[in-house]
Amino acid sequence: MRNIHSIDDLRSRARRRLPAMVFDFIEGGALDELTLRRNREALDAHLLPQRVLVDTSQRHATTSILGTRLDLPLVVSPMGLLTVCHPDADVAVARAAAAAGSVFVHSPWSGCSLDEVADAAPGRTWAQIAFWNDAAETDRHIDRARGLGVETLVVAGDVAVSSKRDRDLRHGTGMPPRPPLRDVVDTALHPAWVMRWLRGRSMTWGNYRIDGRAIRMREMEAWMLRNENQTATWDDIARLRRRWKGNIVVKGVMSSEDARLAVEHGADGVFVSNHGGRQFDSQQATIEALPGIVDAVDRRATVIVDGGMRRGSDIAKAISLGADAAAAGRPFALGLAAGAQPGVARAFEVLHDELLTVMGFLGVTRIEDIPCTLIDTAGPRLGAIVAAPAAAEAAS
Ligand SMILES: Cc1cc2nc3c(=O)[nH]c(=O)nc-3n(C[C@H](O)[C@H](O)[C@H](O)COP(=O)(O)O)c2cc1C
Repeated sequence: MRNIHSIDDLRSRARRRLPAMVFDFIEGGALDELTLRRNREALDAHLLPQRVLVDTSQRHATTSILGTRLDLPLVVSPMGLLTVCHPDADVAVARAAAAAGSVFVHSPWSGCSLDEVADAAPGRTWAQIAFWNDAAETDRHIDRARGLGVETLVVAGDVAVSSKRDRDLRHGTGMPPRPPLRDVVDTALHPAWVMRWLRGRSMTWGNYRIDGRAIRMREMEAWMLRNENQTATWDDIARLRRRWKGNIVVKGVMSSEDARLAVEHGADGVFVSNHGGRQFDSQQATIEALPGIVDAVDRRATVIVDGGMRRGSDIAKAISLGADAAAAGRPFALGLAAGAQPGVARAFEVLHDELLTVMGFLGVTRIEDIPCTLIDTAGPRLGAIVAAPAAAEAAS
């Protein structure tokens, strides 16, 4: 990991190590990938104001959200099927996250069971749940989370409709995969990945069971079709509120209206996310939606945002626009593919170091002192200094 200096370095290494169909599964987005690109473009369009001659020798990035102390305001977003990156999968990512003082969100579509992950990262594992057609399946999931001492549930809010990802369709990446010949050849040219795949953890869904055993790859599609639920509503959040005493975070919130509804239905946290551009293409970048959502939440809930975070400065921008913490997916999946647990640990190290450096230039020693002013270079407001919600409020 000595030659890894950025998330982009991890990405290059992961690209070399993974067959193209796996790399594209991680990296790709829906349709024309407009939203995927926009997440990055919107972050790039915001610049931060430098300050000088401030004593920043004692700076640190610690913070606390939903009762969990973090060494940096960064959480691992839930990701399904990480087993394709490396057989150590979620266990490696969760361990690296815990060691870095972060939190790992376990996905319902994970290859590892929640039990295995919570065991690997006690106190640092949150559980994502989905409202399945078979409500008993969801209830069992919630009960297991409670039994394992998990304190925070993250509700998958944006999965009622399945997206179309052209890269996956071209590679035949389904469950089970049906790759064209060129991908079979390309995969054969990655023997280390093939050996890990053959010898490592088998490709299952770790969380749900058929006949008492984990769901196998060839059974996933049928299980998914049976359980996909397009009828979930805010009433399900209200019902969840009644049965779950811990924290509830709703993921996939991209509008002020939904942020308000989440709070009104008892959510403790709002997770601003467009699924990293993997679900609904042609929508806003998360960083564009964030200020309105922060205003709507009005400090009644914790706000987390993901989508395109690749530098410490991106985390600082998210905080600057009013988020309590940022989150990221692909940087950790790519770290896992590039170098198992040490690869994920390196992703955390890089982002933590970059964030501390940015804080030095911003002239702050604590996360809560990151200024609420960004320099927005995009569009007609070229060069204008825009005030983020908190700053605007303070000024009025
Ligand atoms: C391989 C992969 C699998 C994902 N699986 C899930 C999932 O199971 N549940 C979910 O809510 N989001 C899922 N996401 C979206 C992430 O939680 C997150 O919103 C997104 O990756 C953030 O963008 P970033 O990758 O640019 O950081 C997945 C993303 C990737 C890359």
